[in-house]
Amino acid sequence: MRSRVWVSQPLFADIVGRLHEHFDVVATEHVGKHSPQQIAAALADCDGALVTLNDPIAAAEIAGAPRLRAIANVGVGYNNLDVPALTRAGIVVTNTPDVLTETTADFGFALMMAAARRITEAERWLREGQWRQWSFETLLGGDLHGSTLAILGMGRIGQGIARRAAGFDMRVLYHNRSRLPETVERECRAQYVDLDMLLAQADHLVLVLPYSPQAHHLIDAAALAKMKPTATLTNIARGGLVDEDALAEALAGARLAAAGLDVYEGEPAVNPRLLALRNVVLTPHIASGSLATRRAMVSLAVDNLIAALGFGPDAGRPPTPVNAGQLKR
Ligand code: GLV
Repeated sequence: MRSRVWVSQPLFADIVGRLHEHFDVVATEHVGKHSPQQIAAALADCDGALVTLNDPIAAAEIAGAPRLRAIANVGVGYNNLDVPALTRAGIVVTNTPDVLTETTADFGFALMMAAARRITEAERWLREGQWRQWSFETLLGGDLHGSTLAILGMGRIGQGIARRAAGFDMRVLYHNRSRLPETVERECRAQYVDLDMLLAQADHLVLVLPYSPQAHHLIDAAALAKMKPTATLTNIARGGLVDEDALAEALAGARLAAAGLDVYEGEPAVNPRLLALRNVVLTPHIASGSLATRRAMVSLAVDNLIAALGFGPDAGRPPTPVNAGQLKR
């Protein structure tokens, strides 16, 4: 009997089409979030699944899926998956690191610049017909060059942002679960500091750390109070890292200059208090969204799924596993 895989949303058909060579493919026609019951039903008679951050999968969703052996997440972050529960069930979990690093770092930089230099606010103002004459003091922003860039989460994407900062002559500070080897620090021209120092020194703080329950609302009112009122905050990681009400209050009260957000706690819903503010740039979770990179992510996820289910040149050895070391053989 051929193995069966579920593809949880429409992805590039020419790439996902490679799955047909090995599997019966159950494809979803429409983009959207599925209910836990829909996910459980879809997984019930599948051997594998290609899923995205729209698909939370934990013990309940796999309880009725005895054949399920592999879940390939299209994304580097996988907080939609309960990895310990999947690992206990013997399911291989994979993600898509590396292929999105540079694209996502580009976007983080762009969002930070847009927030600092008030680019979307300025465009809105112009389109509203408010530009009646050139004036010296119109929409003054903060500089990037010569300022202090503070990176929270110094994985591959954080390092990519740090490397870009050299071209802007920025001082780079970072905080991470563990300090990087000296060679990497030197290459990134980045200095390790504790979290309080990072917050206090930041002219531009960028969040690039993975979400975990321990990091929930890491940036809350108390953390924001430690930042300079002239600073900006950019979040390209996960919405749950930031207390959005506290952020909105800080932005409204001029206790933080501006923010750039690509991710939200309840996305696609956006906190109405943020929507009402001018000094925040809001984008719809598109940091890895160049055409080439999104295609590369899907391609890597397809390779992972094929290999995890025992086919193709990497049979049994998916290129980017998340829980390989933890699965019992
Ligand atoms: C997107 O947010 C990803 O984790 O790849």
